[in-house]
Parts: sequence; C-alpha cells; structure tokens
Amino acid sequence: MDLKQFISQSASQIEPDLISIFNQKVSGIEGLIPLTLGEPDFNTPTHIKEAAIQAIEQNESHYTNPRGLMEFRTAAANYVHDKYDVSYDPATEVLATSGVSEALLTTFLAILNAGDEVIIPTPAFPVYEGVVKIPGGKPVFVDTSDDNFKLTPDKLEQTLKAHSHVKALILNYPNNPTGATYDQSELSALADVIKQHDILLISDEIYSELTYGGAHFSIAKLLPEQTIMYNGLSKSHAMTGWRVGVVFAKPAILNEIFKMHVFASFSVNTIAQYAAIEAFNNGRDDAAPMKDIYKQRRDIVVAGLNEVGIATPNPSGAFYIFATIPDTFNGDSMQFCLDLAQQAKVGVVPGVGFGPGGERSFRLSYAASTEDLKEAVSRIQKFMKNIK
Ligand SMILES: Cc1ncc(COP(=O)(O)O)c(C=O)c1O
Repeated sequence: MDLKQFISQSASQIEPDLISIFNQKVSGIEGLIPLTLGEPDFNTPTHIKEAAIQAIEQNESHYTNPRGLMEFRTAAANYVHDKYDVSYDPATEVLATSGVSEALLTTFLAILNAGDEVIIPTPAFPVYEGVVKIPGGKPVFVDTSDDNFKLTPDKLEQTLKAHSHVKALILNYPNNPTGATYDQSELSALADVIKQHDILLISDEIYSELTYGGAHFSIAKLLPEQTIMYNGLSKSHAMTGWRVGVVFAKPAILNEIFKMHVFASFSVNTIAQYAAIEAFNNGRDDAAPMKDIYKQRRDIVVAGLNEVGIATPNPSGAFYIFATIPDTFNGDSMQFCLDLAQQAKVGVVPGVGFGPGGERSFRLSYAASTEDLKEAVSRIQKFMKNIK
C-alpha cells in the first residue's frame, strides 16, 4: 500500500525546515564543530532549576489553567511591563505556549483564511514560511539584504500597495538569522505605516534580552491594538528545552489563539511554568552575563571572518552572524556549507534556507564555547586560503 496517499495536500506541499535538515546531514561528520543551531551553550540558571525541583517535590504534576497559571501570566506581564513598558492584563491578554514555536502555529491557525497574505521580511527564521502555509496563507517575501537587513517604511508601503490580501506582517528583532535590530525611531516610522492599514503585526521579540547596542524597544508600545507580541525564555535564560513561550495580544485576538492552543497542547508543562515564574520574577538580569560573553564571541568571529575576506554585518543582537560568501568561492550557499562541513569540519547553515537575500550567505551561531569558536574561525580561515 502506498502510504503517501494518506498525506494531506497541505503537509506534502510544505518543505521541511532547512536548518534541521542541514544540521542532520552534517551532524554525523566526525570532529565537526556545529555552529548550526540557535542553542545557547549555557546552563539554565540554578535558581530556576531549583524552582522546578521544588514544583516536582510539591507534586505540581497536574494540568494548569490552559492559559497558564495565573501566577505565570502575572509574572510574564510584569516582566514585559518593567522591561519594555508595555501593559497587558494577565487575565485576558497573556497566554502561555509551548515555546514561541507553538505560539506561531496557533496564531496563524487563528487568523488566516486560505489565500490571506503575510509579509515576511527576509532573510527570516524559516519556520515563518511553514506556519503561514499550513492554514493556506501566502507568504509575501520582502528582501531586506540591500537595506542592512531591515524593513524600511518605503518598502513596506510599496508591498502593501502591491498586495491586496495582506492580513499580517511578521517582524522579528533582534533578528534570526541576521542579528539586525531596530531602534525606536525606525520602529516608530514602521508603526506610522502599519497604523494606516488594517493589518496585524506579529512581533517576535524572543531575542529581546540579547541586544549589544541600545536597550530593546518593543513596537507593541506604539501599536498596542494591532500587535501580537511573542517573548519566551529559550534564548534569554538558556531554556530551549523547557519549552516556554508567551503571547501578548488584545482579548479579541488572544481568545482565538487560545482556542487553537487548547486543541494543540492544552496547557504548558506545569513544572516548566513554575521555573518560568522564577525566571520572570527573580531572574530579570540572568541574560546580562551571558550577553557579555556572546558579545566577546561575536567580536572574535566577526574579526576572524573579516580577516579572510568574508564580509559580515556587525550584528547588534541575538547570537548569529550572517556572513557573505566571497566570490572566490565558485558555488552556491549549500555547496559552500557542505564543503566547509566536510573539508574544514565546521557546521554552518546555508543562507538559502532563510529566503530571498540569503543566497550568497551562511549563518553561523556563536552560541557555542569560546574555545570552539576560536578553533572554528581558524579552520574557516584555512579553508578560505585553500580555495583562493
Ligand atoms: C526568531 C525565532 N522565533 C522563535 C523561535 C522558537 O523559539 P522557542 O524555543 O520559544 O520555540 C526561534 C528559535 O530559534 C527563533 O529563532
């Protein structure tokens, strides 16, 4: 029997995420230094782990309110209020999800009809394309590579003029994969355009604690009505495996995302919620020492790549470098990354996986040990000298 006959059209039309495919492809290479995934190498802070242990010991092993424990929602609302000056009512405007990953899928299931368009500035986190396509939405890619990897108000305006079915725009800053971020005046200019249109803004701010210049500014402050804001603990608190994300939005929207969330997962892991309460309440500065180290690592890698003619923007946030493959390399980004993995034993992700504007680039995650990064840079330098 051909089991493929049972697969839905929507599932079979969607390409799996290239980062995971590529990572799997190269992870078996002996001696490889993997700089492929957005995975902090730090451990979750001890006080957060202790809160989780205590929750286990106190038998907190039941379902919670599916929106998240009230204590969780209050702690999350206070955290974004105190850090980014945005106000959300924990009773009606905050939802706990299993990572921002779940938030993304449930949001698009809640807001999209087949044929609705969603603007995705690229290079972008590849998951966005998939979650827009699953409910039948159409991604509208806007290449930002000529604008320092930032969406400009002009380009946004032009795109909105050219597309009549746009329902939402996704903004992600600090950005994965480019490390670009927006300051308050840039966000203000974008908000002026967004305000004039009946669209939603999905603001993925999961890297908000990892900015290397000025402090993060949340666009939700300028557009409280239209914004669906995400944050989480995966990156800021080295908690990728705990699976905690948060959605903040007005009740009319949040209630529908909540409906999807109940069907998808009901409630977030209870132990992880207790850990998150501790992180939000008492771990507000946990990201600071990690950020200092990421910054030092960023500087080591950027300098090392630039030395051998690999141009890079100097990322102002997150923990990725989106580097340009020099013209001396005769091949595309997939070939470059395969050669680098096989010959130099360094794993980085082909830029083509991040959409238009990424074809001649690769993404390197510097959320790895300083020692590994130094060795990786030296291997990349040797590799580049050999292809000249
Ligand atoms: C931009 C962006 N959004 C969302 C996620 C998903 O994060 P979570 O671990 O909260 O599901 C990631 C993870 O890499 C990301 O880079």
